[in-house]
Amino acid sequence: MEKILFESYKDYFKVGAAVSGFLLMSKEEIDEHFKQMAIRMEEFKKNFKAPPGAPQFKFPEPPKFPEGPLPDYDLAKKQFNLIVAENDTKMDAVYLGEDNFNFKMADRYVKFAKENNQSLRWHTLVWHNQSPRWIFKDKDGNKVSKEVLEERLKKYIFTIGKRYSDDICSVDVVNECISDKNFVLRDGADRSMWYDIIGPEYVDKAFFWAKEAFPKSNLVINDYNLEMIEGKRQGMYNLVKGMLERGVPVDTVGLQMHINYENPSIEEIEKTIELYGSLGLNVIVTEMEVSAYLDKDFQKPDPRREYTKEFLDLQAERYYKLFECFKKEAKAGILKDVVLWGITDRLSWKNNFPSPGRTDAPLLFDNDGKPKPAFDRLVR
Ligand code: XIL
Repeated sequence: MEKILFESYKDYFKVGAAVSGFLLMSKEEIDEHFKQMAIRMEEFKKNFKAPPGAPQFKFPEPPKFPEGPLPDYDLAKKQFNLIVAENDTKMDAVYLGEDNFNFKMADRYVKFAKENNQSLRWHTLVWHNQSPRWIFKDKDGNKVSKEVLEERLKKYIFTIGKRYSDDICSVDVVNECISDKNFVLRDGADRSMWYDIIGPEYVDKAFFWAKEAFPKSNLVINDYNLEMIEGKRQGMYNLVKGMLERGVPVDTVGLQMHINYENPSIEEIEKTIELYGSLGLNVIVTEMEVSAYLDKDFQKPDPRREYTKEFLDLQAERYYKLFECFKKEAKAGILKDVVLWGITDRLSWKNNFPSPGRTDAPLLFDNDGKPKPAFDRLVR
């Protein structure tokens, strides 16, 4: 009998995956996408001015799309009972202008999830990254007022809710709002135009609007390194505790969990989940993968390019221990879903991040879609 990942965990939590837009695009659309990317790269090169005295900058090669059909498509259908768009439900993909919404890809995700009996998450409503540039500007290119930006955000949240709320199990209402510098809300100096223009209350407001617009969905505040960095974990705790005291309808903390084969320890992860659980909140693991690189190897070249059997077994054991911990936290009533940020290593965003030009192997299926030891270890 074929091994199915989500079935092994169906008594505990849903097992999800981020699905790349390429899986739901036609060949023509993909070609056009890469053509546009090449044009943007040329523009960038033309306008690029290196600071005086800087070493010569080597522009990366434009990425190439793998030839032939991608195994990810069938794996997405079969192995997971929850999906989320890796990019296509971010604000810059959907909210193209004041009255200009692009629902094309989001509709395809809804259709795909329905056809395959899967739950669907919405990632994300408010984020300092991948927001459209127009939204912060008036017609003369100046910063908009607080009132205008609030109106635009509200319209976005209600438009998305009206069209999709019945199809969405959980929404990342606010993404990555805790600063890595001081563990309080990320401000304008730390790249949040939302904070810069609206002020700290943008978070509460987004949740109140989301509650009206998505009355049946779980409302998530999502961030990275909460399980890794104690100060950040506590910063998020302080934020959500304050929100609950103010009656803000946040009900779930999303742990992105972009982690590696060694850190953080299972104990730290348990502690993190239980800390938010102690406030009566649920936890979802929203974007997990297990990188082949430790943080201290940041930007080192590729010593593991071959991903030895020894490494793959180590990674398998790590995935197993993580999922055992998730089972425990699901039994305790805190943990709801576990979502992996991709399906095959080939399409993982960790290729090139955080080190341009370096590949990684953080997921359950190899470049060709073959199950890795980690998959076999997780599935009974
Ligand atoms: C990443 C995608 O995987 C990439 O394809 C894209 O180029 C950049 O964004 N935290 C998040 C996700 O909340 O949206 C990010 O996804 C990964 C980090």
